[in-house]
Amino acid sequence: MTSSFPRKVIFDTDPGVDDAMALYYALAHPDIDVVGITTTFGNVHVEQAAINALYLCTLTGRAIPVTLGASQPMVKTAEAPPTYIHGVDGLGNLPRRVDATGQLDTRSSAQFMVDMARQYPGQITLVAVGPLGNLAAALALAPELPTLVREVILMGGTVLEAGNVSPVAEANIWNDPHAADVVFTAGWPLIMVGLDVTHQVILPLALFKSIAEHHQHVATDTLYHAVDFYSAFYSQHDQIVGQVHGCYGHDVLAFVVLTNPELFTLQTGRVRVATEGLAQGQTIMRRKDISYPQHGWHEEIPHTQVCLKVQANACKDVIKTTLMRNWLRPSA
Ligand code: BDR
Ligand code: CA
Repeated sequence: MTSSFPRKVIFDTDPGVDDAMALYYALAHPDIDVVGITTTFGNVHVEQAAINALYLCTLTGRAIPVTLGASQPMVKTAEAPPTYIHGVDGLGNLPRRVDATGQLDTRSSAQFMVDMARQYPGQITLVAVGPLGNLAAALALAPELPTLVREVILMGGTVLEAGNVSPVAEANIWNDPHAADVVFTAGWPLIMVGLDVTHQVILPLALFKSIAEHHQHVATDTLYHAVDFYSAFYSQHDQIVGQVHGCYGHDVLAFVVLTNPELFTLQTGRVRVATEGLAQGQTIMRRKDISYPQHGWHEEIPHTQVCLKVQANACKDVIKTTLMRNWLRPSA
């Protein structure tokens, strides 16, 4: 395995305001090379997710393959998209859009992941920030996938922090708990970036205003508009966020752990997902080395590295510095 940078990343996403923030961070960071964007349902329907991914590529002047993926959960009935958080269009109800260029790659998101992993064995990092159906489908297509990818970093779940769609569940995992359990037990190097850390990093709306003023570019104006909408939701519904008028950056932290792992404290252990009932979507971590009688925690279950703490201020500084870099190209 090479440790070289920039790291080849497939970004699996449901854009989504914080997904857009994360994509910008990845495009702006010199250590990350986004080789594909695979879309899924979640914050919006999958067709809209793909439209948004192509649109963000147009705005930032990038020609990156974009694919269409899972349109619904593996087993449960799909939930309605949370339009009150991300807007009906997923980007905070943009008042107008410029014409998007770029065509969808005709492969499914899962097939694209498999093809790229075979083309670049040991080199691809999957950064997944939506429900995990595409990764589960890719594993079904190619059970050897865990030996082909370098690592998987996912934004989702929570261990000690309260959930955001139920007292115990985080949205991405709750949206497709069966797929998530497949991903947590697949046996690839896996890092979980959940609410335990994303709820520690509150990004003020003023940060996105200053980024837009700095760049004077349609891409960052668009992000500022989207974050304004998203921050209104968080500031109203979460007292702590309301104090600074801002939002959680959730998805962007999946990239910060890649570029700045020293800012995170991780614990290794087995993680499983509750798929039914009141605890549906809960990510349960075996945090003590106890031999439990209940099936499902035995030695064959692979380990996950779970982010439990983050240096929040340093993390915010990294996000700001990265997005202030000279990374934007003329819109395509
Ligand atoms: C996650 O759910 C989505 O709303 C966000 O984009 C993020 O991926 C946070 O729980
Ligand atoms: Ca997301």
